[in-house]
Amino acid sequence: MAVSVPKDFAAARQRHDEVARLVRDARYRYYVLSDPPMPDAEFDALFQELLALEEAHPRLVTSHSPTQQVGAPLDTAFAPFRHLQPMLSLDNAFSREELESWAQRVERGLGEDADAVAYVCELKFDGVAINLVYRDGVLATAATRGDGTTGEDVTAQIATIDAVPYRLGVADPPAVLEVRGEVYYPLEAFEAMNAARIERGEEAFMNPRNAASGALRQKDPEVTRQRPLSVWCHGFGVVEGIAFERYAQALDWLRGAGLPIATETGVVDTVDEVWAFVERWTDARHEVPYEIDGVVVKVDDLAQREQLGFTARAPRWAIAYKMPPVEQETTLERIDINVGRTGKVTPYAVLEPVVVAGTRITYATLHNEIQIHAKDVREGDRVMVRRAGDVIPEVVGPVLSKRNPAAEVWRMPPVCPFCGQPLVRPEGEAHHIDENVDCPNRLLESLAHLAGRGALDIEGLGGQTVELLVDEGLIGNLADVFRLHHHRDELLALDKWGQKRVDNLLAGIEAAKQQPLDRLLVALNIRHLGPTYAKLLARNLGSLAAIRRAGADELEAIDGIGPTIAAAVVAWFATPRNAELIDELVALGVDPRTETTSGATGADAAMLEGWTLVVTGTLEDFTRDEAKEALEARGAKVTGSVSKRTTAVVAGENAGSKLTKAEELGLPVLDEAAFRHLLDTGELPT
Ligand code: IVH
Repeated sequence: MAVSVPKDFAAARQRHDEVARLVRDARYRYYVLSDPPMPDAEFDALFQELLALEEAHPRLVTSHSPTQQVGAPLDTAFAPFRHLQPMLSLDNAFSREELESWAQRVERGLGEDADAVAYVCELKFDGVAINLVYRDGVLATAATRGDGTTGEDVTAQIATIDAVPYRLGVADPPAVLEVRGEVYYPLEAFEAMNAARIERGEEAFMNPRNAASGALRQKDPEVTRQRPLSVWCHGFGVVEGIAFERYAQALDWLRGAGLPIATETGVVDTVDEVWAFVERWTDARHEVPYEIDGVVVKVDDLAQREQLGFTARAPRWAIAYKMPPVEQETTLERIDINVGRTGKVTPYAVLEPVVVAGTRITYATLHNEIQIHAKDVREGDRVMVRRAGDVIPEVVGPVLSKRNPAAEVWRMPPVCPFCGQPLVRPEGEAHHIDENVDCPNRLLESLAHLAGRGALDIEGLGGQTVELLVDEGLIGNLADVFRLHHHRDELLALDKWGQKRVDNLLAGIEAAKQQPLDRLLVALNIRHLGPTYAKLLARNLGSLAAIRRAGADELEAIDGIGPTIAAAVVAWFATPRNAELIDELVALGVDPRTETTSGATGADAAMLEGWTLVVTGTLEDFTRDEAKEALEARGAKVTGSVSKRTTAVVAGENAGSKLTKAEELGLPVLDEAAFRHLLDTGELPT
């Protein structure tokens, strides 16, 4: 990172003071409050500026400078623990050139006669640094890094993490072993936890590392136990009673002793190979089920490490290459809202387009008004946008220092922009609802859903066609779809619609009348009723008439159906216009088959035994959890990363690097139709 530095000492000192204050404050908020005030990339830039100022004006290097310190002040809620050996930080590289100059410094430091250097490349885990002290093979203390010399004793909290063994699995354990690692929050669990918080109207965590830090710093370890934290170990401090020659050898030993050591590691001999590792993992960063923010390169030979030694804050024998951030800054131009098929109102951000971790982003979800206020994002703000893995891009928060003082707090519009009816937020719920069932946007969304693959699967009736037919006045409600055959001439008169297209559409609609009952139920937009529950109802009650007749008690008696779904189903059928719709559909010949599409319930539990699948991208008719559930119900294993052991990859819209990796490995890739075929038959389509 090239930084411009004032030549004049007084000006440099003033800037150094300013930046040092920002860095100290950021460290305190990052380490102690688990609430960083700025994205990592911004912190890194400030830190690089301090280093550049000090390089140009060495008088600025004092023991008070943040460049000479590690971590942050201690939180007195935890007992202090003095590390046996200080926990240092790492110097950073942001380019191939910076990595190369580090490697040159290493070689120069070792002298001309030194043996060739072998480098161990590892992922840089984005978590919370931890020090585990094992005495005679038993976990004696676990502590955070703190200021590098003294950390906070979090032994009780760490003891709740399954990945950390209480006793080392070796016959003759060393007297003392200090193991360094990183506590992390697995991505999938993080996303689910944040989604649940948002659903409840609570503020979401900014990223998995903050969530891990928050969970680890719970005074009551029982609270930590509820969180699915895990650990990767990546080094050691004091070791007494065992000697290693090479780091790679030590890692094998630690793994053998039961400590969690990641396998995504490479031992290489040249900087070219280091760079190849960096490039491979920059592309594949979303293929591991935890967050990484770089690659750490370390000298393998421990005697060489000793020779190289340390600076005040970091070893000379290691460097962290920082990957481009998964968060970027852009302008939030506008907040718009969408009204979904059930009337749920979702605000979203219209952004000045920005490329985040390789993908161009123009829209990002804002979930609901409570979230917008919790994050305090306003139209016109500069905002941080985050994209991790396959998650929908999200606005993390505003860059408050760049806010226009005139920016106003955003309010949900009082009326729907599509139909002009009031938007209301039911008590206790986080989302606003447009209760107008005739809202044109709601109609468009429900028609597209009715025709979608998870529902009646009508070929030729996609979103744009629906919009056209509604605009032309040919469809005004769901039942009108089944009246379209009366409008054959009007359809034929549509621009560019030939006879074939019209006939195909009408044939598709005709066939849809006999789709299985569970699909019809899904098509009706009953709140909370997704495919899994629709199948349960269809299997247990057998006909539309029986489901329509059933009371809440009868529904709740079905294993797997709870009061919320039962109430939603009863309320839906009790609404006069819905009852009318059902009458109309039946009169129009909609006659669902009583067997169900195969699905999570009652599926052949061994159908996909031995299969390992990865689901990526957005599927139209399944959430990620539903797809996973359907696969697991058939005996398949579903994992988060693509490898040679993966049997096939299910790839929806906007699938990213997992799809690329699957293609590279020559694995079968299933689109949604092929995925359905697999669920139905247990076989890949030919
Ligand atoms: S080795 C002397 N290896 O990143 C410090 N650190 O930004 C040796 N980190 O302090 C650290 N992944 O907390 C090492 N594979 C890895 C790492 C890693 C994450 C953390 C660690 C370190 C920080 C520096």
